[in-house]
Amino acid sequence: MESRLPKNTSPANQARSNKAMELKNQIDEIATHYARRRSAIMPALHLYQAEYGYISRQSMEEVAELLDVAPVQVYEVASFYHQFNTKPTGTYKLQVCTSVSCMLMGADCRLEQLERNLDIECGETTADNKFTLSTVECLGSCGTAPVMQINNEAYSENLTEQTLDDILRSLNN
Ligand code: FES
Repeated sequence: MESRLPKNTSPANQARSNKAMELKNQIDEIATHYARRRSAIMPALHLYQAEYGYISRQSMEEVAELLDVAPVQVYEVASFYHQFNTKPTGTYKLQVCTSVSCMLMGADCRLEQLERNLDIECGETTADNKFTLSTVECLGSCGTAPVMQINNEAYSENLTEQTLDDILRSLNN
């Protein structure tokens, strides 16, 4: 079977090829910690996302080849977990929780506020590539609803119109 790993046809492909080799070595090492190579899909996807900012179809195919699984198995993992981006995102990835507790505490109003202020709809990225807005299922912080996560890390809790304005202002500075 022909390899999906990039071939050396241009400087860009050469760089990608070198990076792919580095990632391969890292993933090979990680895979030694598991009984089955396929168990390393998630850490491998984290590495690719850290390197490229999101997980492209090519990245999924490379991970599949490295771990000897079908590409669809990698796609299923990448598309199931909200921490993985399968499309390029802005500098700040804003994810508003819209599960029950957050919805009851006004998540829909905060989402509308973000759409209005950023002039985009949920699922879109601003023209300057600064913000990507999406929704997410329960972030596990229902007691501090409504909650928004920024770049898969920081939680903004007990969101109000004022605190959300403050957050946007600080991210824009
Ligand atoms: S419902 Fe939003 S954090 Fe649980």
